[in-house]
Amino acid sequence: MAWLLTGGAGYIGSHIVEAFRAADREVVVLDDLSSGFREFVPDDVVVHEGRIEDAAAVAAAFEAQPVEGVIHLAGLKYAGESVNAPLDFYRANVEGTRVLLRQMAERDVDRLVFSSSSATYGTMEGEIVTEDSPQRPESPYGESKLIGEWLIRDQARARPSLRHTSLRYFNVVGSGSDRIVDHSPYNLFPLVFRALSRGERPKVFGDDYPTPDGSCVRDYVDVADLAEAHLRAAVLLDEGRELAPSYNVGRGEGVSVRQIVETILAVVGEDALGYDTAPRRGGDPARIVGSARRIEEDFGWKPGTDLRAMVEGAWAAWNTPEAREREVRQDAARA
Ligand SMILES: NC(=O)c1ccc[n+]([C@@H]2O[C@H](COP(=O)([O-])OP(=O)(O)OC[C@H]3O[C@@H](n4cnc5c(N)ncnc54)[C@H](O)[C@@H]3O)[C@@H](O)[C@H]2O)c1
Repeated sequence: MAWLLTGGAGYIGSHIVEAFRAADREVVVLDDLSSGFREFVPDDVVVHEGRIEDAAAVAAAFEAQPVEGVIHLAGLKYAGESVNAPLDFYRANVEGTRVLLRQMAERDVDRLVFSSSSATYGTMEGEIVTEDSPQRPESPYGESKLIGEWLIRDQARARPSLRHTSLRYFNVVGSGSDRIVDHSPYNLFPLVFRALSRGERPKVFGDDYPTPDGSCVRDYVDVADLAEAHLRAAVLLDEGRELAPSYNVGRGEGVSVRQIVETILAVVGEDALGYDTAPRRGGDPARIVGSARRIEEDFGWKPGTDLRAMVEGAWAAWNTPEAREREVRQDAARA
C-alpha cells in the first residue's frame, strides 16, 4: 500500500519522497507540475499529473493503486502573491483540500498529514508561539492554510475514523540532496543565491521592523529534517497512534534575515560584497519563532541540521549544472 503525496514533485514533497524511499515505504505523487519538477522525483516513482481541485484527477490518482494515507502539500505558497491573487489561493488551498477530503472519504482512506504553516499565526504576542497560540493570519495564504486545518478538523468530527495531523512548518531551507533545489522566486535563500550568481549584492526586505536589527526574524528548519518529521507522522498513523491536531515544525530559534544573509556571504566567501536593504514586502510579519516541544515529545523528532549546514547544503545543490540550467529556464519563463 502506498502513501499518496500531493505536491510531491515540489521542493519539500520530493524530499519527503526521498525519506519514504530510504525507509523502504511505497510512495506515489499527484502534482500538476506548476511549480514542481518531474526530475525531482526518481524515475521509478509514479507521478500522476493533475490538479488537486480536479476531482477526476484526484480520483484517478487514488484508483491507480491502493493508497493507505495522504500527505497533502499541493497548493500555492507565497504570502505576498496571495495579497494580489486571493481567489487563486482559495481555489488551490481551500477547494483543493475539500476535494481531497471528499475523495479520501469515498475510498475510506483515513490517514492524513497536512502541510500547514507558521503563517497561520500572524504577528506573535510573546517570544515563541506554541500550537495553542492564537491564529491570526495576515495574508490570504495564511488564511487559506488555517481554513485547510479547519476543514480537516470538521471532517474528522463528521468522520471519526479520519486520523490526521497538520504540520505547521516554519521557514524551510536547505537541500538534503544535490538533485533538489528551492527555485522559488521569493524565498530568502534562492533570492540571495540568485543575486550572488549574478555578481550582485543581495537585498534584505525591510529594515524598520520592531526587531533587534530591524529585519524580520524567522525560525529556519532544514528541509531534510522536515521530511523526516513527515515520515514519522506517517509511521505513527500507520501504527494506529493518535496524533495531536497540529505540530510546529521548526528549531525554536529566531534568526534575523540580516544574520542569514551574513551567514550565506560567509559560506560563499563573499563577505566583502555586503548587501542592500529594500522596502518591506506585503504579508510579512516581523517575527515568527515556534516552540517544537510538542513534536519532539510525541514524535521523538529533533531538527539535527544547524544554520551553517543548511546554507552549505543549499549552496551545493544550487550550483549543480542541472540547477543552473533550470534557473535559466525559469528566468526565461518569468521574463
Ligand atoms: N517552503 C516553505 O517554507 C513552506 C513553509 C510552510 C508551509 N509550506 C507549505 O508546504 C507545501 C509545499 O511547499 P514547497 O515549498 O515544497 O512548494 P513547491 O511550490 O515547491 O511545491 C508545491 C507543489 O505542489 C504542486 N501544486 C501546486 N498547486 C497545485 C495544484 N493546484 N494541484 C496539484 N499540484 C499543485 C506544485 O507543482 C509543486 O510541485 C505547500 O503547501 C506550502 O504552502 C511551505
